[in-house]
Amino acid sequence: MPDPTIRPIRPEDESELTALYARLSPETAYQRFFTVMARLPPDWARILANVDYDKRMAIVAVAPGGQVIAVARYDHDDQAKEAEIALVVQDDWQGKGLGTILMKDLLAYAATKGIRRFRAYVLGDNRRMLDLLARTTQILERYTERGITSLLLAPLPPAEAPAGGAR
Ligand SMILES: CC(C)(COP(=O)(O)OP(=O)(O)OC[C@H]1O[C@@H](n2cnc3c(N)ncnc32)[C@H](O)[C@@H]1OP(=O)(O)O)[C@@H](O)C(=O)NCCC(=O)NCCS
Repeated sequence: MPDPTIRPIRPEDESELTALYARLSPETAYQRFFTVMARLPPDWARILANVDYDKRMAIVAVAPGGQVIAVARYDHDDQAKEAEIALVVQDDWQGKGLGTILMKDLLAYAATKGIRRFRAYVLGDNRRMLDLLARTTQILERYTERGITSLLLAPLPPAEAPAGGAR
C-alpha cells in the first residue's frame, strides 16, 4: 500500500479533522483531548485547521484515499517561551512509525521558526506517547499531577561525530 503523504495543514482540512475525530476510538480521543466528546465541536475544528504556520503549526498525514489520518501540532506561548505539542494517529495507523515521523518533522519545522522548547501533557499511563517523546526529544523536566504528566522538552543534540574520524 502507498505511504501516506505528509504536509502542512490547510483551512480546507476542517471537515477532515471532524471526520478523523469521528473515526478515533474513545481511548485514542481521550488520550489526545483528555475528554470524550460525541463529535469535535465545529469551532474547534475551524481553529485547529487554521494555523499561522509560525506560532501555531500543524502537520497532517493523508492516506492515499485523501483521509487525514494523523495530526501533529504546536502552539507557542510567548510568555512561557515554549510551544505545547500534541499528536494523534488514527487507531489502525498506530504502531507503524507515523507518530515518530510527524514528531520529528514538527520539531524540524519549529527549529526553522526559532522554537526550541516544548511542553507536552500526556496521561501518566500513556506509555506509547511517553516512549515516543523519550526517543525523539530530550526530556528536561517532568512531573505528574492528577494523572497527567507534564514534560518540558528540547530537540535532541546533534548526533556525535563518529569516533576516530579523519586525521
Ligand atoms: C501516541 C501516538 C501519537 C504514537 O503514534 P504512532 O504512530 O502509534 O507511533 P509510532 O508508530 O511512531 O511508534 C509507536 C510504536 O510503534 C513502533 N513502530 C514504529 N514503526 C514501526 C514499524 N514499522 N513496525 C512495527 N512497529 C513500529 C515503535 O517502535 C513504537 O513502539 P513502542 O510503542 O513499543 O514504543 C499514537 O499512538 C496516538 O495517536 N495515541 C493516542 C493519542 C495520544 O496519546 N496522543 C498523545 C497526547 S498529546
